[in-house]
Amino acid sequence: MELETIMRPGLQGVIAAETRLSRPDGQRGVLVIAGYWLERIAPYATFEEMVYLLWHDRLPTAVELATFKAELAEKRALPPIAEDILRAAAAQKQPVMDALRMAAGTLNLVVDAADAQAAAQVAVAAFPTIVASYWRLLQGEALIAPRADLSHAANYLYMLTGDVPDADAVRALETYLNTVIDHGFNASTFTARVIASTQSDMIAAVVGAIGALKGPLHGGAPGPALDMVFEIGTPENAEPVIRAKLERGERLMGFGHRVYKVRDPRADVLNAAAERFFVGERAEFYALVRHVEQVALDLLEEYKPGRSLKTNVEFYTALVLHGIGLPTDLFSPTFAISRVGGWTAHALEHYASGRIIRPLAQYTGETERRWVPITERD
Ligand code: ACO
Repeated sequence: MELETIMRPGLQGVIAAETRLSRPDGQRGVLVIAGYWLERIAPYATFEEMVYLLWHDRLPTAVELATFKAELAEKRALPPIAEDILRAAAAQKQPVMDALRMAAGTLNLVVDAADAQAAAQVAVAAFPTIVASYWRLLQGEALIAPRADLSHAANYLYMLTGDVPDADAVRALETYLNTVIDHGFNASTFTARVIASTQSDMIAAVVGAIGALKGPLHGGAPGPALDMVFEIGTPENAEPVIRAKLERGERLMGFGHRVYKVRDPRADVLNAAAERFFVGERAEFYALVRHVEQVALDLLEEYKPGRSLKTNVEFYTALVLHGIGLPTDLFSPTFAISRVGGWTAHALEHYASGRIIRPLAQYTGETERRWVPITERD
């Protein structure tokens, strides 16, 4: 059968596979995750429930959840070689996302890679340990072993600081992790799915996805988004600083989206989670952030009219994670700690039903070159 070929740069508008995991509706600004509107589940579920939902297409019962939490908790420890790699990376002050990628590659050593479900559990369980361990090594601090009696989110904060976090911080972190766990065929998920589509293993799929998430056009945006607010510092600086960026042709991190042309629904959920941290002395900072957002939206309309550039999830990610007290260097790695739930779900879904993903490229090079021996080339 002859297939019609079309070219869509960036694969914009192309449907490459079916999924039951999530549906971002860019026109209405609605995100459905496995049947639930985001705002009806993200602020209430534990992260473990969200992962279970994606892997099994239903929420767990209380007994199933307890078993699942215990299974994840017992897989938090890293293979010893991972710690050596993290120490070597810390000695060179490698970015956290690179250290995560390097250490994640060692997870094949603690699980049978052919067992995709077990490997998915190992990946989800071990990511917080890798990130927290590396962060402490960068600070010159002793590593903190995971605690099986704490939830996934609480244990991550505990391994970073050594303190058991308060309930508000854990709830805000879980709301964040739940909000960004899956989002259609975003670049990193697509990467994971392409790797899984070759029937390569689960750890290979998540390692590739980390590389895709790291880029500033995808998961690398929230740190720079907050840095812009710090750079602006006071409300009156917002207009000149942002205008200068747009005059230089720079992109404003935390704005614009391939799919959402109305407001990103994740922004509202995250804003609600963040607000509680910005009372009292911190209220002024929150007001500055909202002012910067409004100025940015106005100037984007002026400089890029008709492009429908709205605030995206990364802008409010920055606010929530800053509210919890995480440093900007941990924003993208914390995104990975969530999104690995989606990557693994997509890989499992593709193993069950998918074809190899193999699009075409439009060749634009020469076609009639002739071989010239090296002695005759000028
Ligand atoms: N600031 C300034 N201009 C922008 C921005 C921005 N944040 N985003 C898009 N534009 C402009 C582009 O320059 C382009 O202008 P032109 O028509 O004059 O050439 C136009 O808007 C369309 O942009 P595209 O790059 O074609 O849009 P695309 O869908 O390919 O890109 C993306 C989407 C990558 C998110 C883009 O909006 C961007 O770079 N945003 C900033 C980075 C960011 O916040 N990334 C996080 C995204 S959310 C996530 O991945 C979890």
